[in-house]
Amino acid sequence: MDVDVFTLFPHWFDWYRGQRHVTNALALGSTLECIDPRTTTPLSGGAVDDTPFGGGAGMVLRVDVMERALRERYGKDPVEVREERRVIALTPGGRLLDDALAIELAGEPALTLLCGRYEGFDQRIVDHFCSDEISIGRYVLAGGELAAMVVLDTVLRKLPGALGHVESALEESFSPALEGAPEYPHYTRPAEWRGWTVPEVLLSGHHEKIHEWRREQSRRRA
Ligand code: ADE
Repeated sequence: MDVDVFTLFPHWFDWYRGQRHVTNALALGSTLECIDPRTTTPLSGGAVDDTPFGGGAGMVLRVDVMERALRERYGKDPVEVREERRVIALTPGGRLLDDALAIELAGEPALTLLCGRYEGFDQRIVDHFCSDEISIGRYVLAGGELAAMVVLDTVLRKLPGALGHVESALEESFSPALEGAPEYPHYTRPAEWRGWTVPEVLLSGHHEKIHEWRREQSRRRA
């Protein structure tokens, strides 16, 4: 998967790029590139935002600035780019991210994520350049960068090989394998600690029973 993140803070992603599942995904052929709209802004002094029409607090990312950045990156009118790849604006009011959406996005060959800052985007950016608006929760972050990292975290770990072993993303919380329910509890050594024991069935070596027990636990947590 080829991922482009448009952000005014590209260096934030340096740390992110070093995380295990991200390095795995990159080693397996995925790409993650950050594009800073400030570097291509048509405005003087590196300006990228402006005060909102109608008044109010904060600054709004300008449509001409985002158009230039997208046009430079893809070599075409950005209204056409969303026909070819998902172009996602990170906004607090967008479609809520869940496992089903992560699976959907993991099936895409390419994603573009637009990170807003301050009061967010001029609405024309969302209306004309984006195919999706995604929110990671009903609260307001200072910008879309952390939200982009959350979206990518859950999407990249679903790519084959990103976790190192195939099974780990299959039967996890909210996955179709668990019918959308939270995952069952896990235990490891020691089998007893301060009198707190591990469910007997997990020590039995009886795979069928373990499977049944886990499904039941998962259903109970739903
Ligand atoms: N930008 C600001 N807040 C956000 C949120 N909750 N989700 C996605 N993008 C955001």
